[in-house]
Amino acid sequence: MSSESGSGPVRIGLVGCGGISRAHARGLRALGPEWAKVVLCCDLDPDRARLRAEELDAEAFTTDWDEVFDHPEIEAVDLCLPHHLHAEAAIAAAQAGKHILIEKPLARTLEEADRILNAVQRSGVLLMVAFVERFEADHQRAKELLDAGAIGRPMLVRVDHNQNLLLPPDSWIRSAELLGGGALASAGCHRLDLLRWWLGEVDSVFAWTLHEPSRMEGGDRSGSDVALPLGGDRELCDQLDVLRSTLAQTLLDRGHQGIAPQLRRTPASPERPGRNGTNRDRSARPVR
Ligand SMILES: NC(=O)c1ccc[n+]([C@@H]2O[C@H](COP(=O)([O-])OP(=O)(O)OC[C@H]3O[C@@H](n4cnc5c(N)ncnc54)[C@H](O)[C@@H]3O)[C@@H](O)[C@H]2O)c1
Repeated sequence: MSSESGSGPVRIGLVGCGGISRAHARGLRALGPEWAKVVLCCDLDPDRARLRAEELDAEAFTTDWDEVFDHPEIEAVDLCLPHHLHAEAAIAAAQAGKHILIEKPLARTLEEADRILNAVQRSGVLLMVAFVERFEADHQRAKELLDAGAIGRPMLVRVDHNQNLLLPPDSWIRSAELLGGGALASAGCHRLDLLRWWLGEVDSVFAWTLHEPSRMEGGDRSGSDVALPLGGDRELCDQLDVLRSTLAQTLLDRGHQGIAPQLRRTPASPERPGRNGTNRDRSARPVR
């Protein structure tokens, strides 16, 4: 995407300056001022908004997202908000004619998602959900292999996700209402998105969740078996299971209190490039 005028950086408003906005800020800085210019940073917490504005060399910060949506120079908004605010913010942004990058999941319910899509289609803006895992080198390679037929015809894929265990007691993420479900809906949707990207639409899903109320109301560990309408055999399932090893989150390194940092991830080997082709060691990355 380039700026509406076709030249100069895209002028952006960042709404929500909490945890994930740090990663967005890194990405925006990496793009550089010739591609992305952050005009306003917004958070209910003025300290967070000010900090992000300073980091991003933004023109100003605010605690009122209407200032972002009403700003005549802002072309696109980057929404890094709790899930219960996605629909309200995205609809307001679309109605104001702003292009939208929104954090996953798009919404808590199908009804909210439909309302967002209606607003976006009516105003003709672009909408992208930040399913970042599609851009990881391992996952892109898996897509190439699948498309090339390297494992034949896949039939069944299993994914699981274990939500961050070290949430403060008052975190919105603990609330099923604010989160829109449990671990599968919250961050497990990354895995479901990969499955749809790799394999196409699914025929049926069996999902389960483990529930530890002191951790998350909606279930903190979830999994699903996705059956594809194609049919296949057990051997192919096993091979696809190997592919998902890049995603595998074993239970052994996790306990009620958290994830042992030294066991979170094994560093990428030199043969296994990470995001953007660079080797990565994600051992210090918070797992969500
Ligand atoms: N892609 C990933 O791997 C990944 C990782 C973490 C979070 N996320 C997603 O990012 C989004 C935000 O999660 P987070 O972990 O950053 O949450 P967070 O709670 O750390 O940050 C949310 C921020 O929004 C602010 N906020 C709340 N209401 C607001 C309002 N009305 N106006 C302006 N600011 C407001 C809060 O003050 C807070 O700073 C969620 O959709 C989450 O699922 C994605």
